[in-house]
Amino acid sequence: MKVVSVIPGKGGVGTTMLATSLSSAAAHQGHSVLLLAEHNSGALWIAEQNQKSLPFKTKPIWFRDLALHLEWARFADFDLVIIDCPRDLSIAAICAPSSDLVVMPCRPAIFDMHSTRKALKLVQSFQNIVIVVLTHCDKFDPDTLDARQIFLKDGAELPFDDIYRRQAYSHAMEVGGTILETKPNSEEAEKIRSIWRYISNRLFGAADIRQKPQRKTKLKAVA
Ligand SMILES: Nc1ncnc2c1ncn2[C@@H]1O[C@H](COP(=O)(O)OP(=O)(O)OP(=O)(O)O)[C@@H](O)[C@H]1O
Ligand SMILES: [Mg+2]
Repeated sequence: MKVVSVIPGKGGVGTTMLATSLSSAAAHQGHSVLLLAEHNSGALWIAEQNQKSLPFKTKPIWFRDLALHLEWARFADFDLVIIDCPRDLSIAAICAPSSDLVVMPCRPAIFDMHSTRKALKLVQSFQNIVIVVLTHCDKFDPDTLDARQIFLKDGAELPFDDIYRRQAYSHAMEVGGTILETKPNSEEAEKIRSIWRYISNRLFGAADIRQKPQRKTKLKAVA
């Protein structure tokens, strides 16, 4: 079983959007996914609206009991746990060492960068693989490029794709789902899948056996 924590350095940066969307992308790829989230969080609200039509399960937790929940998830045969962490460095210090990798969402804006770089240092003291995903980006904004350079210098990894500020993401949350349920063929959904592919390669290696095998064309018998 692999564990991914989505840890924000600042509130409201799209942590829950990313954690729920990645859970959905991983589940669509064939993983049995459990999303752990704090009692009374946005992720639980989404699950309460629509758990039946979501391809992953959600469980409310108190973070001090994280080890017990991970043990339970292993016992229940989940092969991927994604943790939606609130903005709290003491919780980051519980989640990061229990994870195979950490994803940190950040807006490419000065205060967000400041808080996230501080949190990144803490997380890096527990965890080698930290992937920063830039969120709420504006297309062609030079700040996004600067933010990428700064985080790379700090030793973080960044997937090729950034997440743009798009109503479609918040609309999906409002109706109790993710972009992969509400607009699976959109550019926004493809961004999430592409970010998940990057994370999946880092977690499982390039040859994830769960990726659907390519259909082979039958060779015609030569008379
Ligand atoms: N890429 C995006 N474009 C536009 N709106 C977004 C995007 N991502 C998230 N949102 C919206 O921004 C708000 C905050 O997102 P979200 O709840 O995912 O952030 P969070 O970091 O989990 O916040 P909190 O600190 O409250 O837990 C929500 O209303 C959400 O619908
Ligand atoms: Mg949240």
